[in-house]
Amino acid sequence: MIAKLDEIFKTFQNEIKNIEKMPDLMQLKSRYLGKTGELSGILKGLKDATPEERQSIGAKSNQFKRQMEDMVVDRIQEIELAQINESLEAKRIDISLRDSLLEKGMDKAGLHPVSTIQREIEDIFLNMGFEILDGPHIEDEYHNFEALNIPEDHPARDMQDTFWFEREGENRHLLRTHTSSIQVHGMKKHKPPFKFVGPGKVFRCERTDASHEMCFHQLEGMMVGENISVANLIYFMKTLLSEIFKKEVEVRLRPGFFPFVEPGFELDIRCLICGGDGCSVCKQSGWVELLPCGMVHPNVLKHGEVDTTKYNGFAFGLGLDRLVMMKYGIDDIRHLHGGDLRFVSQFANY
Ligand code: PHE
Repeated sequence: MIAKLDEIFKTFQNEIKNIEKMPDLMQLKSRYLGKTGELSGILKGLKDATPEERQSIGAKSNQFKRQMEDMVVDRIQEIELAQINESLEAKRIDISLRDSLLEKGMDKAGLHPVSTIQREIEDIFLNMGFEILDGPHIEDEYHNFEALNIPEDHPARDMQDTFWFEREGENRHLLRTHTSSIQVHGMKKHKPPFKFVGPGKVFRCERTDASHEMCFHQLEGMMVGENISVANLIYFMKTLLSEIFKKEVEVRLRPGFFPFVEPGFELDIRCLICGGDGCSVCKQSGWVELLPCGMVHPNVLKHGEVDTTKYNGFAFGLGLDRLVMMKYGIDDIRHLHGGDLRFVSQFANY
């Protein structure tokens, strides 16, 4: 029986060496060490043996059993390691790929042109004493609409324009449709006089085309104080635009309607391409519509807890994507966030 035990141990040793897969290993384990396995078979035969034989065979088989169990544990670790190595190999990242980007001149990192222009404009406003504020992308109806004097039945609340979240109780949430919601946060945060700008992404549930995207960028501006007038508004806008375009720009105001400003305006600039003679960019009019603005509606100030007997203000909303397009002559807004490296790498600046 001792010889038989030795043989079982030897064949086990040989077999386990060749096993590569976990299920095969488990099968081997139960074939040798299970209740009806080879070792148990031997131990069952012990009842016919002499007490001496019983003792020596019992000790030997226990010793083999322990050794075999240890070998199974070791093998499990080896198989797992092999599996990890195999999957690492399969998911291996080909770092030589960078070479092909290098060849195409797409190896440089840099800021997206929208970020660059946003930073430029932030600097201009910081120099004029404005603060930079941030606001959440996810807003509620109050901050995006109600506090901005946009009543329940206003078309801007239409399902087609707004990405709504599923209703949870009274307060419905949405992806902000404009940075004007930052006005509401800003007014609550400050006591007048104050002036701030708030840049960021905005979202509209719209069909996309060359001049419409579902996600684009605005920079909101608000100034509240005593005796603020349209002249102040024009001054700040003119200074901003001359800084951006690095030359004196001529501006004009046309009436424009936004529920949160009264009076509201569309600010146009004299076309920088043709100097006002008329071209395709300005559609032969000599003027390019650039930014909506106006004097803050008293209802908005009241929602912001501003004393309207003492203070008033102006606000504006600058579209950053449009500015980038004008600056670089890009004719389709969808290029900006299409994720095409050939496009963005042209703006790599370091
Ligand atoms: N929030 C307006 C829009 O997105 C722009 C705007 C801002 C108009 C501030 C007037 C004053 O269309």
